[in-house]
Amino acid sequence: MFEHLTALPPDPILRLLAEQRQDNNPQKIDLGVGVYKDAQGATPIMQAVDRAERILLETENTKTYVAPAGNAGFNSSMAKLLMGSDNPVLESGRLTVAQTPGGCGALRMAAEFLNLCKPGNKVWLSDPSWANHHPLLNSAGLETVEYPYYDYENCGIRFDAMMDKLESEAKAGDIVLLHGCCHNPSGADLNQEQWQQVTELCLRKGLLPFIDIAYQGLGDGLDEDAYGVRLMAEKMPELVITASCSKNFGLYRERTGAVMLLSANADQAAVAASRLFSIIRGCYSMPPSHGASVVDLILASDELTTVWQDELAAMRQRIHFLRGAVVDKFVASGIDRDFGFIQQQSGMFSFLGINPAQVHQLKKDFSIYMVDSSRINIAGLSENNIDYFVNSVTQVLKA
Ligand code: LMR
Repeated sequence: MFEHLTALPPDPILRLLAEQRQDNNPQKIDLGVGVYKDAQGATPIMQAVDRAERILLETENTKTYVAPAGNAGFNSSMAKLLMGSDNPVLESGRLTVAQTPGGCGALRMAAEFLNLCKPGNKVWLSDPSWANHHPLLNSAGLETVEYPYYDYENCGIRFDAMMDKLESEAKAGDIVLLHGCCHNPSGADLNQEQWQQVTELCLRKGLLPFIDIAYQGLGDGLDEDAYGVRLMAEKMPELVITASCSKNFGLYRERTGAVMLLSANADQAAVAASRLFSIIRGCYSMPPSHGASVVDLILASDELTTVWQDELAAMRQRIHFLRGAVVDKFVASGIDRDFGFIQQQSGMFSFLGINPAQVHQLKKDFSIYMVDSSRINIAGLSENNIDYFVNSVTQVLKA
């Protein structure tokens, strides 16, 4: 039976991760996969996580099953983190939350739910979007189409083109996927005014917004980064949200995320919940416990929350610093090219704006790894490698 299958190329981001791990050049720079790194190039366990894990080790007294919805404390804390703790939506009975295996698990469960609502439904994705969005949504049966988003020439958002496309081609009931903050791969985010316009468009045309937020706290701040989520939760009758704790809690391998469905009223929310939990039961039955228990412990403790928020703020500030530093170094290099946009953008990623042959040359000749699109993980830069990076790029661009 298996002989009928043909092999697929590996996921480009994961392939890059494997390639750079095999490279022994001591000067190599990994700007591929979206993982935060400190000044030493390490991705340490956050202190708040470490402390919560120790508490868990001392106090956890069973490994019995949780439930398809996962950890109730985690779900309620994640809803507060995203919505703001005094948001009336939290008490409205309209919100269903399920803990999921990472942001990918959340995306896939949301996609399965949406495909159940309307099989083969259309999801509008930004052009470009995170490389895994298409396969995750398509695998559930949804159709993906694109709206214009990143302007490679001006390094900003093609907002008018985005709005025109959705206005003229999206139909009532279509789904519009938006990045809550720190757009992956471009780092170019909607501003508040643009969020308001997209919300108004979705309301007027009956489009269902689906916000994927995987980097809350790594852009401008925990509350600032949730602006779009909170606005849409206030205005829209229905909303889908997927969130990840991979980056802001550094829990990558613990696969910790959440899916949230905002329904028009509490009765519909009860039905949506029963369907979502049944989809989860039929897929992986229930999520793994560890990462969510850690987040639950942190967010339930004022002290650990402060430790975590301080660490997250330091990560965010470091990324801001690196954005500024790399722009300054390019200016100082004398290269006749404006990289100033890197400082305007937000979160872990930006496109360097070089072509695939140049990306390849950086890998081959300098052991600098980035996705073919020239997306770089800013957090992969450091005081130790930033000069080597800028010199190498400058050489490749001058060649
Ligand atoms: C990324 O975009 O690099 C991260 O979200 C990691 C991944 O799974 O692709």
